[in-house]
Amino acid sequence: MTKAPIRVAVTGAAGQIGYALLPRIASGQMFGPDQPVILQMIEIPMEKPMAALEGVAMELDDCAFPLLQGMVVTSDPALGFRDANWALLVGSKPRGAGMERGDLIAENGPIFTGQGRAINDNAASDVRVAVVGNPCNTNALICMHSAPDVPDERFSAMTRLDQNRAQAQLAAKAGVATTEVKNTLIWGNHSATQVPDVYHATIAGRPANEVIPDAAWLEGDFLEAVQKRGAAIIKARGLSSAASAANALVNHVRDLTMATPAGQWNSVCVKSDGSYSISEGLIASFPVRSDGKGTWEIVADLTLNPFLEGKIAATVKELEGERELVKDLL
Ligand code: NAD
Ligand code: LMR
Repeated sequence: MTKAPIRVAVTGAAGQIGYALLPRIASGQMFGPDQPVILQMIEIPMEKPMAALEGVAMELDDCAFPLLQGMVVTSDPALGFRDANWALLVGSKPRGAGMERGDLIAENGPIFTGQGRAINDNAASDVRVAVVGNPCNTNALICMHSAPDVPDERFSAMTRLDQNRAQAQLAAKAGVATTEVKNTLIWGNHSATQVPDVYHATIAGRPANEVIPDAAWLEGDFLEAVQKRGAAIIKARGLSSAASAANALVNHVRDLTMATPAGQWNSVCVKSDGSYSISEGLIASFPVRSDGKGTWEIVADLTLNPFLEGKIAATVKELEGERELVKDLL
């Protein structure tokens, strides 16, 4: 039986990530090969981005994707989020060289109040929201507070790109395929204080720190490479990551919609319940498992060593500072 289409709203749809992301949604890579979609693409009400968005829609037409059952091209958030089952919030300014993601908070934060309200008032009753625009944790917090009728557990922000980066770095160091590396994990903020955790990761079924018995590398160069990978991409490309970010968002949505294999987890920024001493209410990256039926849970009872505890305390402090900065928007 043919499934009913789901409505997927994407903000910043004419931007770099949008361009890499939309064909992947329309081709079925995000929601599955039998799930029709209607894309609701939102841009700012200015001539250039709206013209570019019309061009993106023309290209999507020209792909003749069998699953793409409709498109909305708009600068009106009420229309863009109307009946949306998923809201993918990409639209916002990226950082440039020499900036930290948190430097974007004054400019990007307010975007998420208006969008939160528009989601609250217009989206489908089952809407789920994934925030990519930086600083994504705190933007997701703002959005969640601006949409009081949408349950808090429907909001997430993306650290899947950092997880993928960590997985790729470990695979390269161990000389194995990326598929051999499991349960890499990111704690805290999607920022330079994020905590890539190798102490719960495995390589070919063995603890990662036994396969790579080099604590100095694991706690030094590896950690920094993952924390600063976004900046390294900006330095190399002159633009922030886009193909890998779009890919990670496909992974992120699948992580939350498909059942997580037994014994595994993925990194997702969700509202903290206070576990692992991460202040309640912050949107922070945790190990998350999904039941594949719309419910997820934070994996409980991982043991944190003193190194991880210290690093997690620092990333939590940064998130608390960001929350304080935007308290007028909450
Ligand atoms: P981009 O500048 O290429 O595109 C952003 C688009 O958003 C632009 O077309 C702009 O017109 C649009 N936009 C701005 N404000 C908007 C609004 N209020 N409503 C709708 N559209 C709006 O940027 P990009 O490279 O696509 O990056 C987008 C964001 O994603 C940035 O904030 C970037 O830092 C972030 N990012 C996050 C991750 C992550 O892992 N969380 C990874 C990569 C990029
Ligand atoms: C990334 O991690 O690549 C993005 O958050 C973009 C950035 O500013 O680093």
